[in-house]
Amino acid sequence: MVTVRAPATSANLGSGFDVFGVALTRPADIVRVSRAAETSIEVTGAGSQFIPEDPEKNTVGAVAEALDAPAHIEINKGVRPASGLGSSAASAAAAAVALDQLYNRGHSREQLVPVAAEGEAVVSGDAHDDNVAPALLGGFTIASHSGVTRVDADISLVVCLPDTVISTRDAREVVPEQATIEQFVETVGNAATLVAGMCRDDPDLVGAGMHNSVVTPTRAGLIEGYDAVCEAALAAGATGVTISGAGPGVLAVCRENQRRTVASAMLDGFEEHGLDARAYQSRVGAGAQIL
Ligand code: HSE
Repeated sequence: MVTVRAPATSANLGSGFDVFGVALTRPADIVRVSRAAETSIEVTGAGSQFIPEDPEKNTVGAVAEALDAPAHIEINKGVRPASGLGSSAASAAAAAVALDQLYNRGHSREQLVPVAAEGEAVVSGDAHDDNVAPALLGGFTIASHSGVTRVDADISLVVCLPDTVISTRDAREVVPEQATIEQFVETVGNAATLVAGMCRDDPDLVGAGMHNSVVTPTRAGLIEGYDAVCEAALAAGATGVTISGAGPGVLAVCRENQRRTVASAMLDGFEEHGLDARAYQSRVGAGAQIL
């Protein structure tokens, strides 16, 4: 039997749509696997009632298939589905590491990225690596056509999760198909600034590089209270705010000593709109760990 903890992740960070991702210190999924003739899945924890246990429909079923590693897989969800915190990626990454160990396959974490991404495709219809890469490798990751690059950043973060859900499929449908050359230049500049900030552990630079004028405005319309939460976080000292992944979670970057104030301001922002929310005071964290 092998047990693995894999963290929640926040993808995009605004300017790095489908490319940037960061591992959070909390929450996390715990996945336990044991050898079996056929794959079976049991799900407990946050939002488990919405997660199918049929291996054909569950993200970890695709991972077991890809690794040719049939197993009984128990998933204890700490990362609520449809949150924008990489819920399916956490399960897929944990299962990939656990099954690889159970069957002594000997894959590196980098080699497991496309395997876990297959699991993501079951949920979102698209195999993208921006959540599974940080869930497996930890840190800040850049997942591009040339592979995955990892940066060991030390940045404080707050993720505020309202009590609403947005499916990744729905959030991808509102993404514009085209951008202007001005938006392209602006986004490249912002993304480069953000990467420099991660390399220097500089929350001001990271925050300054988060703006995305193409994807974020259309998706923000799906998140009730989004503008109020952003304004509140910035007024409380956040250096940048954006949608976490496909939402409805909202991600803020700040200094360590401002995490509590920023978290409380974001909760107030959702409350103004009559929404219950939960705030995670976090930082850039480690990837999946065998327990
Ligand atoms: N990059 C993805 C998106 C992450 O924003 O749609 C969510 O799975």
